[in-house]
Amino acid sequence: MSTNLISNMVRLNLANSYIHMGNLVLVNRKNPINKPESLIIKNLETVSTDYKKILLDKTAAIMLRKLIQACGGENEIVPVSGFRLLSEQIAIYNDSTNENGEEFTRKYVALPNHSEHQTGLAIDVAKNQPDIDFICPSFPYEGICQDFREKASQYGFIKRYPKGKEAITGISHEPWHFRYVGKPHSQIISDNNFTLEEYIEYLKQFPCDGMHLQVKNQGWTAEIFYVNAREEAKSVYMPENLYYEVSGNNIDGFIVTVWRQCND
Ligand code: DAL
Ligand code: ZN
Repeated sequence: MSTNLISNMVRLNLANSYIHMGNLVLVNRKNPINKPESLIIKNLETVSTDYKKILLDKTAAIMLRKLIQACGGENEIVPVSGFRLLSEQIAIYNDSTNENGEEFTRKYVALPNHSEHQTGLAIDVAKNQPDIDFICPSFPYEGICQDFREKASQYGFIKRYPKGKEAITGISHEPWHFRYVGKPHSQIISDNNFTLEEYIEYLKQFPCDGMHLQVKNQGWTAEIFYVNAREEAKSVYMPENLYYEVSGNNIDGFIVTVWRQCND
């Protein structure tokens, strides 16, 4: 499930339980979390020494620190909410329902077990100012916050709940919520204005035994394909000496990404 260097033709076994693991898992109203909480917790770290209680998946935390550094946002950008336990999502949902009502809460708080904050791959950020709202923090479209937004895809993050796509994501526009999916997926999603729902569907056009999606980036070509866990063999043969990454989509299959060095 992570990046590997393959030295020979290798058979990659894709166990069904892996469908629910990886950076590309789609978690929304239709697709609940299916990865055990204990496994998620094992791979968390604090996003920064100043915010010790805010945890993220290790790779996502590293990339978030790099992104904040790249915008000079260490003092201006505040992490508000990262990984949440199921018990925390339940408390947030109930507290918001009591305070703001059911209609508002359904728009801005995912149902327990349907929040991607429970994966450790989602982060809410705010502009550093007094009285930061926990559910809807302010993250303006100017200055360092906007710079963060524009650079996010270079560091593997996407704007997860864009304006105009509420019917697809099931959540209202959330300018403060970013999701780690890793590169090159973040860049493809951003370049095409996809939601994660649309991207996961789009990738089904690129099956293992058909044409693969190819993207070039800074000396590398990434080849991406989808393996349907129900219809296709659960093993994929990979060419030698290539880096690859596998993620489940949390629905019905796997997304394999293979990198090749290229000269242009
Ligand atoms: N605010 C997002 C939708 C969540 O609760 O996961
Ligand atoms: Zn969020």
